[in-house]
Amino acid sequence: MRNLTEGNLTEAVLAKLEGAADARFKEIMGSLIRHLHGFIREVDLTEREWLTAIQFLTATGKKCDDKRQEFILLSDTLGVSMLVDAINHRKPGGATETTVLGPFYVSGANEMPMWADIAGDAPGEPAYVSGRVLDVDGKPIAGAVLDVWQTDGEGYYDVQRPGGNEQYARGKFTTVADGRYGFKTIKPVSYPVPTDGPVGKMLLGMGRHPYRPAHVHVIATAPGYDRVATHLFVEGDEYLDSDAVFGVKHSLVVEFKDHPAGPTPDGKKSATPFCTAGFDFKLVRS
Ligand code: BEZ
Ligand code: FE
Repeated sequence: MRNLTEGNLTEAVLAKLEGAADARFKEIMGSLIRHLHGFIREVDLTEREWLTAIQFLTATGKKCDDKRQEFILLSDTLGVSMLVDAINHRKPGGATETTVLGPFYVSGANEMPMWADIAGDAPGEPAYVSGRVLDVDGKPIAGAVLDVWQTDGEGYYDVQRPGGNEQYARGKFTTVADGRYGFKTIKPVSYPVPTDGPVGKMLLGMGRHPYRPAHVHVIATAPGYDRVATHLFVEGDEYLDSDAVFGVKHSLVVEFKDHPAGPTPDGKKSATPFCTAGFDFKLVRS
C-alpha cells in the first residue's frame, strides 16, 4: 500500500473496511468514502477549497451548544433532514404526512384542557385551531396527545427570547371521546431560520433566503399508533414554495379563516377580529 495514486486511492481506503465487525457500519462507511471521493474528483477540489470546507465544519461545530444545533440546521437547509424523514415515514395514502421537527421543540410542555389559550400575552392575531384525531379509516381516537408549539406573531419561539424562561405558544392537548381537540393561539407568521452562524453564510453564498412559511408544529401520539411530527402551514403564506428547509407538503396547508369580532369556537365572544383553522390528524396503527 505505497505509491497510491488518484486512480487507486479510493480502493485502498475501502479495503481498510475489511476488518469492520458491524455490517451496517461497514456499508455506511463504504458508501460515504465512495461518494466523498467521487465528489472531490467531480469538482476537482483545490487545497484552498478543502481548507475552507474544514473551517466551515469547524465553525459549525463551535456554534453548537445545548440550545443551538448548527449541524441539524445544516442538514435541514441541505434537504437532508427531509430526505431522512421521507425514507423513514413512508405512509399509506390518507395518513397525516410528517415534516421536519426543527430545533425549537421542548419536551414537557404544560398539559392543557380543550380550548386553553397557549399564547397568553404573546403578540399576534388570535386564532382558534381545532379538529379531530382519527385512524386512517376515520375512527376517532380518544386519548391522543397533541404536543403543539409555534412562534408568536413576531416570528419568535419562546426559547429564542432573551432569557427564554417563560413558556408560551406551546402546550399539550389530549383528545376527548370523539377524538376532538381545540386550542386558542395566535396566527403564526413566517420567520427566518437562525442566520448568525456558518449556515447563514452558506445560504447567503447560495443566493437563498432563510425564511420558513408560517406554521404550527404538532407531534401527535396515541397508544398503538405511529407518532407523527408535523406542521400545519398557513395557506397563502409567501414562502410556501420556497421553504428554507424543504418541509412543505400540500396536505398540511390549512386555511386560517378571518372572522370579525363576535362568537368564537370555544363558546365565548371576541371583542376583536380572529381567525379559525381546522385540521384532522390521521394516524396509522403501529
Ligand atoms: C422550525 O420550524 O422550527 C425549524 C425547522 C428547521 C430549521 C429551523 C427551524
Ligand atoms: Fe418552526
